[in-house]
Amino acid sequence: MGIQLGSLTIEDPVFLAPMSGVTDRPFRRLVRSLGGGMVVSEMIASGEMIRAAARSRRTSTDCAAEQPLIVQLAGCDPETMAAAARLNADRGAAAIDINFGCPVKKVVGKLAGAALMCDETLAARILEAVVRAVDLPVTLKMRLGWEPGDGAALRIARIAEAAGIRMLTVHGRYRSQFYAGTADWAAIRAVKAAVGIPVIANGDVATLAAVDRCLAVSGADGVMIGRGAQGRPWLIARAAAHLAGRPPPPAPEGAALLALVERHYEALLAEYGWERGVRVARKHLGWYAAGRPGAAGFRAAVNALTEPDAVRQSLRRFFLSPTETLAA
Ligand SMILES: Cc1cc2nc3c(=O)[nH]c(=O)nc-3n(C[C@H](O)[C@H](O)[C@H](O)COP(=O)(O)O)c2cc1C
Repeated sequence: MGIQLGSLTIEDPVFLAPMSGVTDRPFRRLVRSLGGGMVVSEMIASGEMIRAAARSRRTSTDCAAEQPLIVQLAGCDPETMAAAARLNADRGAAAIDINFGCPVKKVVGKLAGAALMCDETLAARILEAVVRAVDLPVTLKMRLGWEPGDGAALRIARIAEAAGIRMLTVHGRYRSQFYAGTADWAAIRAVKAAVGIPVIANGDVATLAAVDRCLAVSGADGVMIGRGAQGRPWLIARAAAHLAGRPPPPAPEGAALLALVERHYEALLAEYGWERGVRVARKHLGWYAAGRPGAAGFRAAVNALTEPDAVRQSLRRFFLSPTETLAA
């Protein structure tokens, strides 16, 4: 059930969704270390990236340590986006994804993200410019449209295919919904029928049963999982194995869960430095704790702690049962 995008082979069509402020490098590395699936970078603002690169004259290969990485670009100017795509190609990206899905005012106000679903001429110019700029496969992530009934998904999907886009990911919501309501997987089926390139379904896929239902309803070639992987980075590997007919690796519990959370925590401190890392880690620790007894108290305690060692002690107390704590 793999997907071939140029020279990039995606063995398991299960993608970790790009989520700004969530799927940073430590999270992506953790997901990848658990096996299976494919990861996409957080959205990068094309213009800012080019300016930063010019300032620092960096020629670093940011993506090299994260092979293969699909890098997602946001923006509204074809040439700027093409330049950002080239920069990421030089840095070792495996593919470039373009964001036509972001609903946030700051982004759509600049005619980027989901606003591009309303401007077919500009959308086509951006897609063509980026495809022309790099030898890598270029993919597109979009929504169903701006609002129900506008028919944008089918028009943009056809424009994308004609521009040379190799794969589409469709979040089954309209921009007007932001994240409200439920994702409409059935509407993705019409997109799949309109194009010959692979289509990935996204939105509200958070369990293995939902993977099956979403694929059955949408007819898509794979799934992309976002919020369902928050606090459950193993879900991508489990879904990948499930789709491939391999036994899914078990979700970690007890000492194995603690070890995973600790690994994630240390990686965040290393990435951001301990002062900022302690703050960035809080949301992740809250997600790991969610649904477990005492989660609210744990969250409140960790959110008030500023010393990594104190957080480490809290993690051990919370994620190990009393007997395991005694034995440790
Ligand atoms: C906090 C957050 C940040 C997000 N950032 C991005 C982003 O940078 N690029 C993007 O294409 N989508 C972004 N999304 C949308 C997700 O990729 C995904 O389409 C959406 O959450 C629906 O999938 P889910 O129900 O599996 O979470 C973001 C979503 C969330 C909740």
